[in-house]
Amino acid sequence: MGVKGSKAVLAELLLPVAPEMERMRAILSAQILESSPAVSDMTDHVARFQGKQLRGALVLLSGEATGNTTDEHAAVAAIVELIHLATLVHDDILDGAEVRRRVACVNQRWDNQIAVLLGDFLYARAFALSTQLSSRLCSRLLADTTRTLCVGEIEQSTRRFDFEMSQADYEKIASQKTASLYAAACELGARYPGGNQELGARMAEAGRCLGLAFQIVDDCLDLTAREEELGKTVGTDVEDGKVTLPVLHAYRASGETARAAIRDAYTQPDVSDRRAALFAVCDVSAGVAEAEARARALVDAALEILATLPPSDASRSMEGLFQFVLSRNQ
Ligand code: FPP
Ligand code: MG
Repeated sequence: MGVKGSKAVLAELLLPVAPEMERMRAILSAQILESSPAVSDMTDHVARFQGKQLRGALVLLSGEATGNTTDEHAAVAAIVELIHLATLVHDDILDGAEVRRRVACVNQRWDNQIAVLLGDFLYARAFALSTQLSSRLCSRLLADTTRTLCVGEIEQSTRRFDFEMSQADYEKIASQKTASLYAAACELGARYPGGNQELGARMAEAGRCLGLAFQIVDDCLDLTAREEELGKTVGTDVEDGKVTLPVLHAYRASGETARAAIRDAYTQPDVSDRRAALFAVCDVSAGVAEAEARARALVDAALEILATLPPSDASRSMEGLFQFVLSRNQ
């Protein structure tokens, strides 16, 4: 699927919540307006890297699909997107990334110091907006989610170059750093402002499975995609010492000599392209195929949960969105 193709597919999937997506975008733009020319220069820049907005869309679709839409759902969706944006600005510093969503990362266009502060600014805007809502559920759940995703990022940093990591350890970290926000988006959609806890928990589980699948696909794309196609810097996981699921599979399937060569591809000084070095010494494609099979199984589990909801345009859109996560190439 080309960039244009996948944009059109996504736009069609989001038709049941198209007006609410527009409201979400308007709220998002208003929240990042700032009178300081320096800051507005930067917020204009990040506004240009509007991505797929999957997490905001999940708040809205989950609300519609569970019959729980309120006037405040668009604001909740904007808050989720603002937090996501803040985490990406910080993540690009940690990863030394150069390009995101086809534009220069804040840490490149400006520098790391500014990117730390801009991430903080976006995070502060998210929580300021959440205090204006009628229920505290959104602030409470997202404060907890932010804590979890920071824990995941910290755990990930401490496991760099750890080729003995188990699949369960990898999945725990990916669940914390990525799936937690997907889970929160689906739960808030189904539950905000207070609502049915059991339904919220069920939708959170669907979001968690989807988010974990998303991260696994993301880690596969970091190995297999081209930057022009993906719209962001590729190969950063190998460059940064992150041992992702496809690499863990490839490592486990290798003999001792190949394992040593894999470790060298990650660690030897003066390797100009570590991703290419990795491909040269083991069967990365087989590792990717195994990881993709796991992502498919997770999406199937998420779809099973979705099937417990009454059929509607929104639940069918969610189903399409879940499939989209598997087929995306950006
Ligand atoms: C992307 O992972 C990163 C995340 C899902 C979470 C990043 C979170 C932080 C850095 C904590 C920041 C906290 C606050 C409060 C702002 P990735 O590097 O695997 O994905 P990528 O390929 O999109 O970069
Ligand atoms: Mg990153």
